[in-house]
This record gives sequence, C-alpha cells and structure tokens, in this order.
Amino acid sequence: MRVLSGMRPTGKLHLGHVFVVKNWIELIDQNSCFFMVADLHALTSSYREPCKVNEDSIEMVLDWLSLGLDYSKVAIFKQSDVSMHLELSFLLSLITPRSWLEWNPTYKELRQNLLDLKEVSISLKDKLESSMGAFLANLPFEVKDIGRLKEVLLEAVSDSIIRGAFEGYLQSTQLQISKRDFFDVDTLGFFSYPVLQSADILLYKADLVPVGEDQLPHIELTRQIARRFNQLFGETLVEPKGVVSSVPRLPGTDGRKMSKSYGNAIFLTDIGNELKTKVMSFFTDPMKLRKSDPGRPELCPVFANHRIFTKSWPLEEIESDCKAGKLGCVECKSRLFESISGFLEPIYARRQSLDKSVILEVFESGAIVAKNEAQKTLSEVRKKLCLSG
Ligand code: TRP
Repeated sequence: MRVLSGMRPTGKLHLGHVFVVKNWIELIDQNSCFFMVADLHALTSSYREPCKVNEDSIEMVLDWLSLGLDYSKVAIFKQSDVSMHLELSFLLSLITPRSWLEWNPTYKELRQNLLDLKEVSISLKDKLESSMGAFLANLPFEVKDIGRLKEVLLEAVSDSIIRGAFEGYLQSTQLQISKRDFFDVDTLGFFSYPVLQSADILLYKADLVPVGEDQLPHIELTRQIARRFNQLFGETLVEPKGVVSSVPRLPGTDGRKMSKSYGNAIFLTDIGNELKTKVMSFFTDPMKLRKSDPGRPELCPVFANHRIFTKSWPLEEIESDCKAGKLGCVECKSRLFESISGFLEPIYARRQSLDKSVILEVFESGAIVAKNEAQKTLSEVRKKLCLSG
C-alpha cells in the first residue's frame, strides 16, 4: 500500500509527538511511504517568519530521524521542493465548492474565534464612545466636524484596544494558537489549506494516511474531492483512508495536554538538569500535600507519564504506594525523571550523530523520488483537463 503523511514544521518535537512518529515507523516495512514536511502549510499562518519555517523544517526532521525513522527506506521531502503540490492544488480548487471548505471544522473554529473577538472589540468601542462625550465637550478649541474627529479617534485607538482585549481573551479561552495565527489567518491561503492538503495526498495516490483524529475532516474532504474529480473526468484519483492510531493522551507539566504553546512540554532535546527541573515542576494532586496524604494517581499528570515511560518500577506499586501515603510526590517525580531521561538518552545520542547537512541530503533525494511520483499523477490530471500532459 502507498502511505503518505505530513507534519507542519512548528519547531522542536516534544514527547507527545513521539507516538505519532512511532506509528509512522510501524508502517514502513509493509508499505511504500512518503513523509512530508508541510512547510507551505506552515506558511499559511507563519508567513511573517518564513526563515523560521525553514529552520524548523530541518529541526523537525532531525527529530524524526533521531526517533528511528529510517530515511533509506522512505521518501522524506519538503512540500515546497515539489512544485506539483501547488499545481494540483489549484486544479483541484477548480472543482471544490466553497461551501465544502466553509464546513471545515478547523476553519469554522478559527472563524468563530475571530467573530467572538470582534464582539469584544465592538462592546469596548461602545464604552469608549460613551466616555468620549465628556472629553469632546471639553475640548480647548473649536472643532468643525466633531463626528469626523470622533471617528478618527475611534479608529486610532481601536487597534491597540483590540489587541489588549485579545491578550486577555487568549488567556481566558486557552486557545492553542499563537496571537499571530489568530490575527492573520483570514487569508485566501489559509482558507484553501485543506485543498492543498488534498493535493498532498492525491498526488501520491496514497491508500493510507496516518493522522491524528483532528485531521479526519481533512481526509474526508480529500475523498470528496477525489470522487468529484473522478465523476467529472473519469477514474483518475485514489480515495485515501485515514488511519488513526492510538496516541496516548500525554499531559504536560501543568496537567493540560502537552503542547508547545502551553509552555508545558518536554522536548526531545531536553536533557540533564534542564529535564530534571521540568519534571520536578510537574503539577501533582493538590490534595496530597504531604507524603503521608493519600494521593489520587488517576488524576495526577505524573502518574499518567509513569504509565507511558516507566518500565523499571511496577505501575501497581506506584499506584498503591501513592494512595497509601507511602510514596511522596518528590520521590515519585525523581523516578519519573529517571524514566524519561532513560527514554530520551538514545534519542538524544542519535540526534548528536546527525547534522544539518544530512537533512539537506535527505531533502534532496526525497524530492527526486517524490517529484517522480507526483509528476505521473499531475500529468494524468492535466490530460483530463485538456492541458498538455
Ligand atoms: N494538516 C496536517 C497537520 O496540521 C499536516 C498535513 C499537511 C498533512 N498535509 C498533509 C497530514 C497530508 C497528512 C497528509 O497536522
């Protein structure tokens, strides 16, 4: 079977990403695999920092390889190196109803957030306007067009007020996106993100797409687009299947889902004291203040991490000792540090043996393989559209 998956380069990988990459690795021996750095997708929200996207692409693949992804067995490539993605994306956009994109949950969620924000800013503006009355009445000079002055003042302040309101809004809703994303995603590029993703998949006639659950709507859209193309022009594209493999829910140091944007993540490159400080800062059961207090491991992020990383200490013992007040949180965390440290050591060592030049070579050879496959599909599509093949 043909497998394709991709990841947006957003910086170093953390422990939560490990299982996604491990799931990819499991598919390698039985399938022909393409793993893509979705740098164009990253640019739809990070276009203000294009060089960072480029650096992050290299860092991310260093992490993939250090997790054991064998680049001699798969094609690893950068989306932007294979221009066919852009061409197919445009050709598919011809037959994609706008409404299919507007239904997209990821897009809808962001759009809703923007609308909420607008509401916040409108109510702030109202307040401002009412307090402006007194200010305008006491101006030390005469103004001919007071209405226009009001408008200008409102315009001038609204931007900073919206940003101020936004700051609090971000904290109160714990959005998983950066401020920059929030303001800048109302673009054509972001809107058509799922069409580009469909092109990524259809270009390689992938049968299987291993992804996180959140990506399933995108796979469904890809199937719809393929079906529509085939109906209009005859059997050409392959409808892919999304494969959601189990990824354990991994809480970060503050108990929320591990995520770079929450600042609660443990990165693959964290070692030694840096790692120890992070692990020791894990939140624990707030009801367990002393070692002798009975703990509730089922609620504790430290225990959730033991479940995944601790092999040299029976879980049942941690659980029962914690509940019985025989195991204190400090010791429990030191043990977790040992476990995670042991887990990360070989990954770190492999990373040290790799350098940027290896990644550049991987991109180069991956792009050759990818282009070759991509061109075949693109030629078929072009022919169907009466363009030269
Ligand atoms: N949208 C995916 C994500 O955010 C990344 C991605 C881009 C992808 N193209 C893809 C995933 C193709 C699978 C297949 O994680």
